[in-house]
This record gives sequence, C-alpha cells and structure tokens, in this order.
Amino acid sequence: MSLIGTLFDAPSRLTALDPLAARAGAVADRLLPSGRVRGWLHGRPFGHPAHPAMAQLPVGTSVSALLLDVAAAVLPGGKALHAPARGLSAVALASAVPTAVAGWADYTGLHVDQQRTALVHATGNAVAVACWGASLVAGRRAALLRSAGTLAAGAAGALGGHLAYRWAAGPNHAEHLPHLAGDGSPVDIGALEDLPDGRLTRRSVGDAPVCVLRRGSSVRALTDTCTHLGAGLHGGEVREGADGPEVVCPWHGSAFRFDDGRVVGGPATAPQPTVDVRVVDGRVLARVDAPPRS
Ligand code: FES
Repeated sequence: MSLIGTLFDAPSRLTALDPLAARAGAVADRLLPSGRVRGWLHGRPFGHPAHPAMAQLPVGTSVSALLLDVAAAVLPGGKALHAPARGLSAVALASAVPTAVAGWADYTGLHVDQQRTALVHATGNAVAVACWGASLVAGRRAALLRSAGTLAAGAAGALGGHLAYRWAAGPNHAEHLPHLAGDGSPVDIGALEDLPDGRLTRRSVGDAPVCVLRRGSSVRALTDTCTHLGAGLHGGEVREGADGPEVVCPWHGSAFRFDDGRVVGGPATAPQPTVDVRVVDGRVLARVDAPPRS
C-alpha cells in the first residue's frame, strides 16, 4: 500500500483510543435526539448520509477564505480582502457545528476500528474550529490562524474520505445485491412447509442472500445484507410497524419495512432492496427487485 494509504489506515489500529471511543458513543446516545430528528441527522430523508453533504459548507467557505488571504498577501493593495476572508471563516465556524453533530450521530453506528479513525478525524476538525474561532479575535495573526485551521480541516477531511471509501462507513452495503440475483426470473427457495413459522431465516436467490419471514401461508422477504454496514438481517428481530412487519438489524438497530424496504429507524439511510415472493403449489418463489428508490 502507498505511504498515504498506510498513514490514513494507522488511526484504525489505535486501540488506546477505545475507552474514549466508547465514551464518545455513550455521550452521543445520551445527548443527541432520537426518533425523527436523529433520522434527519443521519440523512434518512435524503437516502444517503447528511454529514458529508453538510461538510461542503465549512470546507467551501474556509478554502475560499484561505484563497482570499493568499490574494491579500500577494496582491498590491490586497489587504482589503482580509475582511471577506474573516466573514467566510465565521461562516465556516458556524456551519461546522451542525456538521459535527450529524457526524457524531453517524459515529454511534460504526465499528470500533472505524470509530478510532472517526475520533482522529474529529480531533483534526476540532483543531480547525479552534483556529477559526481564535482568528475572529486575533488581530494581526488572524489570517495565519484561519489558514492553519483550513489546513487542519483539509487533513481531517481527507481522513474522513478514507473512512468513507476505504473503511466503508457511509456507503450503501446492499447496492450490489440485485446484480447477484440472477437474470430477474423467480427462483425456488424451498417448500413453504420447510420455512420456520414466525421466525426469520436466510435463503439465497442466485448469489444474493435474502431474509425470509413466513407467517402461516404468507411469506415476505427482503435482501439480507443490511444497507448500513452489512449485517445479516436474518439474525435480527421482527416487529410490527404501522404499515406491516419490519425487520430490525441485529448490529445497530436499523429497521426496514418488509413490504417496500423503507428505512424506518436506526442509522441506515439507504432502503433495503426488496424481494417479490409468491407461493405456487406449496413452493416459495422469490425474485430480487430492481434497485429501490429512496
Ligand atoms: S449493520 Fe448497522 S444497522 Fe444494520
């Protein structure tokens, strides 16, 4: 692996951070709102995490401030550019707060190795916020502090990208399942009588795992790999929702409606790919639907 990849992977092995990681998760669970507001913080209404999108504002404004400060330093008579740079830095500071809250909400649903990296990412951003805040009252050194904060935020942002793409914190973990399920023809997944009644079980449609719920002669199914971080939903629990049965993921408690795969709770943001099920002559036929819409 490249030097940069090795460097960015290093925080995931910092086991000394584990007590702090656990504490940060517990505090978040106690302080952050639950229910619908928590769903907004995760980005559930958008079908993808809110935190990276919200980060555009502090990143964009702080980089713009940096460019203005550089221009102020090199252009003759450019000193007047420090004033708009200061304003942009204030916007970066203000918008960093809700961005951090959304990230903190996502943090609670990560594996511990991902949480270690997230803590280092958050520390870099905290340094950035401190620098931007100090720059507002710093006088002559303000531009220097603004620039230092933006460099810290840039490094933290790069690590956040590594966490998202290399360590898969945030992406949909079930997008590929419809592509593993064969040509779209119904597949025989067994006899109705062989499915446990009232309990979740796992079957396969092509190479796609599906989570099956039989209740008497009625059978429902969803794809089995949780869109959040990939747990097997068949290891979870069934609960009754307002619009029919839901499956609750065993890892972080995301809940999905069986009938349309919609996310109705937990940190998942992408809907679960659905499965069409029919019972014909005592045999259960299943077909994984095309990728769902948010
Ligand atoms: S893997 Fe996290 S909620 Fe399912």
